[in-house]
Amino acid sequence: MAPKHLPRDEQIAKRTAFDCFAGCGGLSQGLKGAGYRVVGAIENDPVAASVYELNHPNTLLWCSDIRRVSVNDVLSRLRLRRGQLDLIGGCPPCQGFSKLRTYNGSRRIRDRQNDLIFEFERLVLGLRPKRVMLENVPGLLRDQRLRRFRDALENAGYSVEADVIDVANYGVPQRRQRLVLLASRVSAVRFAEPASRTRTVRDAIGSLPRAGRSGDSLHDLPEKRSRLVAARIRAIPSDGGGRESLPGRLKLTCHRHSDGFKDVYGRMAWDEPAPTITTGCFNPSKGRFLHPSANRAITMREAALLQSFPKYYKFPSELGKVKIATMIGNALPPRFIRAHARALK
Ligand SMILES: C[S@@+](CC[C@H](N)C(=O)[O-])C[C@H]1O[C@@H](n2cnc3c(N)ncnc32)[C@H](O)[C@@H]1O
Repeated sequence: MAPKHLPRDEQIAKRTAFDCFAGCGGLSQGLKGAGYRVVGAIENDPVAASVYELNHPNTLLWCSDIRRVSVNDVLSRLRLRRGQLDLIGGCPPCQGFSKLRTYNGSRRIRDRQNDLIFEFERLVLGLRPKRVMLENVPGLLRDQRLRRFRDALENAGYSVEADVIDVANYGVPQRRQRLVLLASRVSAVRFAEPASRTRTVRDAIGSLPRAGRSGDSLHDLPEKRSRLVAARIRAIPSDGGGRESLPGRLKLTCHRHSDGFKDVYGRMAWDEPAPTITTGCFNPSKGRFLHPSANRAITMREAALLQSFPKYYKFPSELGKVKIATMIGNALPPRFIRAHARALK
């Protein structure tokens, strides 16, 4: 669904930004924190789009497949001239490049979604913003599509830098390796300086009220576990413990003879960054997603805070954990984006 025109008083001033593949708005939140006004965004999933609109009501949102959004439509609805936009950011869907699906990069996956990077390229070349920010899983660095995208930007007069970096070095209380590509046609490109201090799980969620009766519906979503799973969770030592400590009767059969997936059923450690928050972060069988001391998985509010969303960020709890965790796990950590968007500015 295409949006209406941007109201006159919301018209483009300086430091304007556009968000492609906007999801629930992690990238936009980071850009706003760096002082950009996010004037437009594209997201085709109606659930993510509704959460985006709830949190960014002044942004014109195209709830549409990016392949159907023309450069002229964006320019005319935002009352922009080509070359006037300050920054375009985007994180094309990255499942096709992820370690899991490519068996650590040893296999190429044919997925039409992989070519959406060229839709981003089409908008970059058509809108000709001053700066560009692309974010993705590290696997994209090895893919010839990134080479092609980079060449297209360089041929259009942009300086381009790309690197794989850990968000934990930029004030996000979580380890997460990401590929970041920054480009500019108005200045040299530089990555942000790492933060002076590493933020930990305790920094992010240590002072939250008890889950279940906090009054924040995202923190209070109930958790149902079978008696066996509840017993297994109770038996994991607090503050970083793992499944290797389980007594034989509580060990999963599939884990008895396997040494892999050590994080499964693990607890986070209070004084370290969290592991990567994925779309399965509500499920202890999908990774190290147990709370450091309470006998439960992290709540969706905790997941959002570990991704560095602000405490007030809205995710309607009626959507349920699976949908909320998908949006949170797919999001770009706003603090990470804020740091690089500031450096680029
Ligand atoms: C990695 S997520 C983006 C996360 C987002 N940047 C954030 O920080 O919250 C990729 C998003 O692209 C959306 N998407 C996938 N295919 C699309 C398409 N053809 N057109 C528009 N959006 C698409 C997905 O629904 C998903 O929300």
